[in-house]
Amino acid sequence: MSRPKILIARAISPEVVTVLEQHFDVRSNQDDIAWSPAELAERLQGMDGVLTTGSQRIDAALLAACPQLQICANMAVGYNNFDVAAMTAAGVQGTNAPDVLTETTADFGFALLMATARRITESEHFLRAGHWKDWRYDLFAGAEVHGSTLGILGMGRIGQAIARRGAHGFGMQVVYHNRSRLSAELEADCKARYVSKQELLSTADHLVLVLPYTPEAHHTVGAAEIASMKPSATLINIARGGIVDDVALAKALASKTIAAAGLDVFEGEPAVHPDLLALSNVVLTPHIASSTMGTRRAMAQLAADNLIAYLGGQAPVTPVNR
Ligand code: DGY
Repeated sequence: MSRPKILIARAISPEVVTVLEQHFDVRSNQDDIAWSPAELAERLQGMDGVLTTGSQRIDAALLAACPQLQICANMAVGYNNFDVAAMTAAGVQGTNAPDVLTETTADFGFALLMATARRITESEHFLRAGHWKDWRYDLFAGAEVHGSTLGILGMGRIGQAIARRGAHGFGMQVVYHNRSRLSAELEADCKARYVSKQELLSTADHLVLVLPYTPEAHHTVGAAEIASMKPSATLINIARGGIVDDVALAKALASKTIAAAGLDVFEGEPAVHPDLLALSNVVLTPHIASSTMGTRRAMAQLAADNLIAYLGGQAPVTPVNR
C-alpha cells in the first residue's frame, strides 16, 4: 500500500521532518521559499496533506485546484489564513497549534510592552548614532510599567498568561475585555477585572491586543478607539495585523494622541506602512512573538502529530473544523 504524501510548505526543524518521513512520502520546502498561491497549488498536486505556517492562504480556489488534499495542519495558533467554511465544504480537515506557544508568546508580548514603555529601541538607535553626549535628567524618560494599569483585549490563553505576568510579576492592575467573561477562578488567578471595551480603552496605561483575527475583528482599534485612550498610553499588538488600522495608528502616534506603540504584526505584512517606519515612538518587530527554537519545534511537532493522526485514520489532536 502506498504511503500518504505530504508537503511541508516552509522549512522546519529537521527532527520533525525526520518524524514525518517515518509516516509519509514527504516533499519539503527546505530552501524556505515563499511560494505564490499558484506555486503552492502546483506543489500540492497529488498531496494528501500539507503542513502550513500561517502564511499560506488555503481558500476555495486552492482547494478546487488540489482535490486530493485531505488535511491542512497549521503550525500557528491563529488560522486566519484558512477559509474554514471552504475547507469544511471541500471535506478538508484543518488543524492549528494552540497551547505550545502560549508562554513564549506572552513573554514576547511583555518584552514588547517593556521595550515600548521604556523606549529601549529608540534609545539604542540614539546611542548607536553617536548622539549620546552626557547624562540628562529626562533622557528617554518612559512610562512606568510596575504598578500601572495593564489592559488586555482578548482574554484567551495568551491574554491570561500576559495578565499573570503583569499582576504577579509587576504589581499591575489588570483589566480585560473579551467576548465572554472568564470564570471567577480564572479571574482570581489572573487578578484580572472584566470591563467594557470603552473602559478598557480609557483606563489602560498599556493596552495589549491578543484577540483572534476574524472579519468582525477588522480594525477593532481605529481612530475613534485610539482617541479614547490616555495620551500617555502605549498600544501593543501581538495578535494580527488588520485588528489595528495602521494608517490611523500612524497618524495618532505622529500627533501624540497616544505615546507609543509596539507592533509585531501588520496589515499586509511583510509590508509595513511607510508612515509607521518613519516614526520613532513605535517598536517594530517581524511577527516573531512565538519564535524561540524550542517553541517553533513544538509547534511543528504538533502540526506533525495532527497529520500523523488524521492521515492514520484517527481524530486530529487540535481540529479547527469538522
Ligand atoms: C500564531 O501561532 O498564530 C503565530 O502568529 C504564528 O507565528
